[in-house]
Amino acid sequence: MTASAQCLLPQPQQVEWQRGRNVQGVVSVAHVSPQCLCSTSPEAYRLRVTRDSIVVYAATPIGELRARQTLAQLRDRRGAYRCVLIDDAPAYEWRGAMIDVSRHFFPIEFLRRQVDVLSAYKINRLHLHLTDAAGWRMEIKAYPRLTSLGAWRRGQTWKQWWWEYGREYVDRAHPEAYGGYYTQDELRELVAYAAARGVTIVPEIEMPAHSEEVLTAYPELSCTHEPYRQADFCIGNPATYVFLQRVLEEVMDVFPSTDIHIGGDEAGMASWGDCPLCQAKMRELGLTDKRQLQASLIAHIGKFLSSHGRRLIGWDEIVDASLPAGATVMVWRGMARATEALRLGLDVVLSPGQYCYLDAYQDAPPTQPEAMGGFTPLSTVYDFVPDVGVTAEQRSHLRGVQGNLWTEYVPISQQAEYMLYPRMLAIAEVGWNGTRQKDWTDFRERAKRQAEALRAEGINAFDLGREVGNRKAMLHPVSHKARGAKVTYNAPYAEAYRAAGDTTLTDGRSGGWHYADGRWQGFIEAARLDVTLDLGREQNIKAVSTHFFQSCGPEIFFPAGYEVSVSRDGRHFTPMGRDDRDVVRTDTPDVQTRTVRGRTRARYVRVKATAGDQQGWVFADEIEVH
Ligand code: ACM
Repeated sequence: MTASAQCLLPQPQQVEWQRGRNVQGVVSVAHVSPQCLCSTSPEAYRLRVTRDSIVVYAATPIGELRARQTLAQLRDRRGAYRCVLIDDAPAYEWRGAMIDVSRHFFPIEFLRRQVDVLSAYKINRLHLHLTDAAGWRMEIKAYPRLTSLGAWRRGQTWKQWWWEYGREYVDRAHPEAYGGYYTQDELRELVAYAAARGVTIVPEIEMPAHSEEVLTAYPELSCTHEPYRQADFCIGNPATYVFLQRVLEEVMDVFPSTDIHIGGDEAGMASWGDCPLCQAKMRELGLTDKRQLQASLIAHIGKFLSSHGRRLIGWDEIVDASLPAGATVMVWRGMARATEALRLGLDVVLSPGQYCYLDAYQDAPPTQPEAMGGFTPLSTVYDFVPDVGVTAEQRSHLRGVQGNLWTEYVPISQQAEYMLYPRMLAIAEVGWNGTRQKDWTDFRERAKRQAEALRAEGINAFDLGREVGNRKAMLHPVSHKARGAKVTYNAPYAEAYRAAGDTTLTDGRSGGWHYADGRWQGFIEAARLDVTLDLGREQNIKAVSTHFFQSCGPEIFFPAGYEVSVSRDGRHFTPMGRDDRDVVRTDTPDVQTRTVRGRTRARYVRVKATAGDQQGWVFADEIEVH
């Protein structure tokens, strides 16, 4: 039953608050004018459930859908609905999920199923990372080799392809071919399916970097015209612009999304310096550095999209370009990038890695399947406050938030669901509620119940009931003789991983499962860690232990060498001992303690930890002296 009216809304104070439930479940819909609702958002609605009636008040079909989705959540096991009066609207218009279908290919049915789940939580964008080195995933009629070659590789997993098979592309008929792509018809069908559920599919076509698959299928678009050589398009070659525009024309034909994502991240730019065409382009445009060359391409594509009535969206590197009105920056490298983009008056969608990258571990790594690294449990995602430091004036440019699932370590659909849920529920909550008061205990309980419900429906959500959590060592400060000791750095720590600076290694505080959690200190220079501790006075010393972190994805390794020497005067040191070990790559992050024991008396303790053959970083949180 539907009803139509100008402004039927009862005010909250007029509503007789009722206990109890509505058991009939008959819904009537009142179409009202937008001014009657609590917000100008097209997704705004009011829902009134009494024992006798259920009325949805909405100004738009999407508002009605949101009300019905809320109603579905109010349904109890017996099919009755709790009596409520809800005035509701989202804090942000963009509440997104990104799925990387390049690193591993997921069937179209999987994407449809994610639309079902995501839309139930009012996620309204599904961003598909359709192209990357590991495989091109959309049929493009003008360039068939993108999918006859660029969609197939040797290596069932990204890891095998990357490390064991030389990142080789193969013909689909090759016995070891792995891959796949979506036909335009399949994608059109997905777009329609999602639209009916309030979800816009946002396509991403990477440029100018992450394009090894394109430049192997069409090497003439790279600076050297050789396959397997470059990740970046040649920006000086007119053929590049023809290619990108023809691809984007087909993309726009399939995807009605106003926002078209063009990637824009992590260009290596190495080949542009030696390329006559790129150099000529720089001279022609009066450019002095390669970042400006990238910016010129992005600006060109931005204009091209605008001329087709679309809006460019790209990763936060695109702020270098002079962007057309309406362009949106998708922030991934931290909130400072958001501040910069907002200061420039650009629109922003927030997906900072620290809160929104769902390829990180969600629980203690030793208990989990291999993931990218990092540690982003549900609580961290839920803690995200999008508008921190955002002025009232900039607020209208903050379009929303997004959770990103990169899939280098996600080879199958079940694992993708495991990584997505329930963390996407926290993105949904943050995106819909914004900075409204948070209640972690209540949210966790709701997320746990929702994850159970999802599992009952065959969605492989992570079980919060089994959550182990961060390292217990973080909870209790460690007591030892060097606690508070002054530390002299004979080799510097990296500023980006300074943790608490000069006090980190003797503050008694242990690190957790994330190397960037502010407790682990990172060393990349010289022979890595080399420090001298001043205990303040001579003391008896029986053991010197240091805790190290290893996470091979980001190239953080345990040290090969561990050497302790001691001194009474700070000038003449005598060796106390070594604890050297072979460094073994591990699939999951781990913590290891190296210890040198002895019986000595000293005021100064020098600890050196050196990298092994694989080089990389050394990370330590505390040096204990006992
Ligand atoms: C990204 O993570 N490179 C956007």
